[in-house]
Amino acid sequence: MEYKFSKKLAELKPSAIREIFKSLSDPTIISFAAGNPSPDSFPVDDLARLSAEIFENEASFALQYGITEGYMPLREAIAARQKSRFGEGMVRDCDTTLVVTGGQQGIEPACKAFCNEGDAVICENPSFIGALNSFRSNGARTIGVEMEEDGISLEKLEETLKTVKNAKLLYLIPTFQNPSGTCMSLEKRKAVLALAKKYEIMIIEDNPYGELRFAGEDIPTMKSLDSDGLVIYCSSLSKILSAGMRIGFVIAPSEVASKMVVAKQAEDVHTNLFFQMLCHKYMTTCDLDAHIAKINELYRHKCNLMLECIDKYIPADKVTFTRPEGGLFIWGTVKDCTDASFVVKKAIEKKVAVVPGTAFNCDTEAPSPSFRLNYSTPSDEQIIEGVKRLGEVFTSL
Ligand SMILES: Cc1ncc(COP(=O)(O)O)c(C=O)c1O
Repeated sequence: MEYKFSKKLAELKPSAIREIFKSLSDPTIISFAAGNPSPDSFPVDDLARLSAEIFENEASFALQYGITEGYMPLREAIAARQKSRFGEGMVRDCDTTLVVTGGQQGIEPACKAFCNEGDAVICENPSFIGALNSFRSNGARTIGVEMEEDGISLEKLEETLKTVKNAKLLYLIPTFQNPSGTCMSLEKRKAVLALAKKYEIMIIEDNPYGELRFAGEDIPTMKSLDSDGLVIYCSSLSKILSAGMRIGFVIAPSEVASKMVVAKQAEDVHTNLFFQMLCHKYMTTCDLDAHIAKINELYRHKCNLMLECIDKYIPADKVTFTRPEGGLFIWGTVKDCTDASFVVKKAIEKKVAVVPGTAFNCDTEAPSPSFRLNYSTPSDEQIIEGVKRLGEVFTSL
């Protein structure tokens, strides 16, 4: 049989990260390639106890179909937390909070709601590969806009908004961006909102790392600053509770949320009800703030350790690195270089896995001088040994 696959998927490459994962079956490889939360960050005992309670008292409800919008007590708990954490503007009277299957699923229905085949989604370049692939698989073009130290280039963004036809969405990760780890400044957030209003384009604010701040001060989310119904806010409990439970959420203007519900219904009917109930129980009976504080302490330690090792082992005249105040990633850029794919190859020879910057490009053919390192998953010993080996890649150049 000659399979005649759709054009949509023919142009979609398998995620470079998933491909790298395949090569990680070798236990001697030190991986800085993951984007996973640390296994030490899961509150296993509390979740086991609460799971037993649900099965004892509410089993038939938990095992039944639920509604597409999500389990109402969890939607309310999420809305209340977002308001208390990021301000009243997070959920306005005209907004609806939805539960989705991981933050990833907030992105897909937003694209379906706004983009026709061939429409454009403007993205930071580099950006999160899961979102880029979601736009592509929905037939949208991904148009990259250059990043600066404090977020997307305003000048280039306006140029793009003026010139690109049928741009329907602006996809941004303003806080601890994946892959670069950088944060968009408050001034830029306000200026981007003003541009979105001027050019009448919806913003997806993707914020899965917003609560993972271990240094510096919070910057208001774009959602909390938006009084014009421009922002679809996507986030999840993946990085603060459990990634495997696949509990994400969207806060969007109600008219937009209704369209997204129709798209989600066609995808998976509703998000796993048992895990929605478990998350609700955890959020309302355990100390989530204390739990997140513990995770942030762990990541502060791991990030600082990786940066110390970078300073010690990697020649500063050859590579520059971002110094994040939260999130999971450090972004390395090789000086005077357009294509750093050799770093990935040489690192693998030394049994260290990093992700090539090309994996995050909007233009899948473009080279990248950068690579991404993750510090949340490896042990301290692996961080020290892995960065040391990475240093050898550059000292031997
Ligand atoms: C920027 C960004 N958005 C969304 C997601 C997806 O999150 P989830 O695991 O909740 O689907 C990730 C996961 O790594 C991410 O980095």
